[in-house]
Amino acid sequence: MIQTAHFKIDPRLAMLLGETYRSTEHALKELVDNAWDADAENVWIQLPEPLTSDPIIIRDDGIGMDEREVRREYLTVARDRRSSLGDLTSWKNRRVKGRKGIGKFAGLMAADIMQLETRAAGTATYLTIPRHDLLAADMDLEQFDLLINTVPCDPSDHGTTITLSDLNQNLSFPSPEKLKELLTIEYGRQRDFHIHVNGTLVDMEDIPGTGFQLDAELPDAGPVRLRFKIVDRRQKLKSFGVAVRVGGKIVGRPGFFGLEQDEELPLGLLRQIYGEVEADGLADDTTADWGAFVENSKGYRVVEQWAAEHLRREALKSFRHDLGLARSRLKKEIAERLAALPEARKIYGEQVMEKVLLSGYGLSDDRIKPIVGALLDALAEMPDSRDTSKK
Ligand SMILES: Nc1ncnc2c1ncn2[C@@H]1O[C@H](COP(=O)(O)OP(=O)(O)OP(=O)(O)O)[C@@H](O)[C@H]1O
Ligand SMILES: [Mg+2]
Repeated sequence: MIQTAHFKIDPRLAMLLGETYRSTEHALKELVDNAWDADAENVWIQLPEPLTSDPIIIRDDGIGMDEREVRREYLTVARDRRSSLGDLTSWKNRRVKGRKGIGKFAGLMAADIMQLETRAAGTATYLTIPRHDLLAADMDLEQFDLLINTVPCDPSDHGTTITLSDLNQNLSFPSPEKLKELLTIEYGRQRDFHIHVNGTLVDMEDIPGTGFQLDAELPDAGPVRLRFKIVDRRQKLKSFGVAVRVGGKIVGRPGFFGLEQDEELPLGLLRQIYGEVEADGLADDTTADWGAFVENSKGYRVVEQWAAEHLRREALKSFRHDLGLARSRLKKEIAERLAALPEARKIYGEQVMEKVLLSGYGLSDDRIKPIVGALLDALAEMPDSRDTSKK
């Protein structure tokens, strides 16, 4: 006998979906992404003072939702908004970040109670999602009664506020520094999107330095664009590395595509690089939480190799130049001492010195000088029979 069967959805699903984030800061970024999609120009995030029971508040001045939208759009799990609303936002034509229809649950990772207040079209709508009660409920997620309330508001009001209270005590307190860093990586170059954390604007200024941009069409990955900046070595970057952006969203953490292992590029040099690769063709190659690319993604391998090659070339060029300027006094001394050596040993000595200067990048002249001095002494004392210029 053929009959029908149905899926039942345990309310625990809501928690599971909210638990895929690596940290509270990552979860909060998900809510900022929603503000971006809502065409907000400002997001204000208030983090609690440590040891208080204050809530986390995320407020935006985006388009907000009316009651119908809360019911149909906010409360539908796993709805792909792009299939009905398209890839671009309606006012600012931004590339929409939301695609899975589960990001709202991020707040439940950090807190026991999530409250939504949203204003649009003359109505303020209030909704409360209580994590604890949901977990305790022995019923289908769809059957659970959530409290929703509407009151009239000024028709010109718009925007959404999420309040997260009764914070999860098992997680460390959200750190404003970590959150700001994360948000700078994602939104660092947006000019019409301002994020304020505890009253201070996340620094959206373009990072000063020498800029590079390269475009290519790659097999298995399609069109890609690499943009990066090499900042002045006196400047300390909080978030260095090159991130990969797919469909407007950063995937995983910024890195250097394996150049960390490159002997010619000391870590000190890499820390002066900030950039990103746009590779929209890899949209199907990311893991569910956007934390990484799937391991066997052919397209990602190609992008990785391409980006590493160009980064390496430009970085070495720029750093050699930089080094030339930075070590000019030391270099003069080195050149004088090398000039006194027999020709073959001089060539070997030049190679050694370049390696030493490169790996000592970031060290002051005073720190590198004794090393250079010792090596020059050793070179001068080397017997001719052990001349290693052919190595
Ligand atoms: N701050 C907000 N302002 C206006 N609308 C919002 C806001 N947050 C959520 N929404 C609405 O609720 C929907 C569901 O949000 P949710 O984050 O769960 O999914 P998504 O953004 O569509 O996809 P993703 O899971 O990839 O984030 C959004 O598509 C949007 O229509
Ligand atoms: Mg979202």
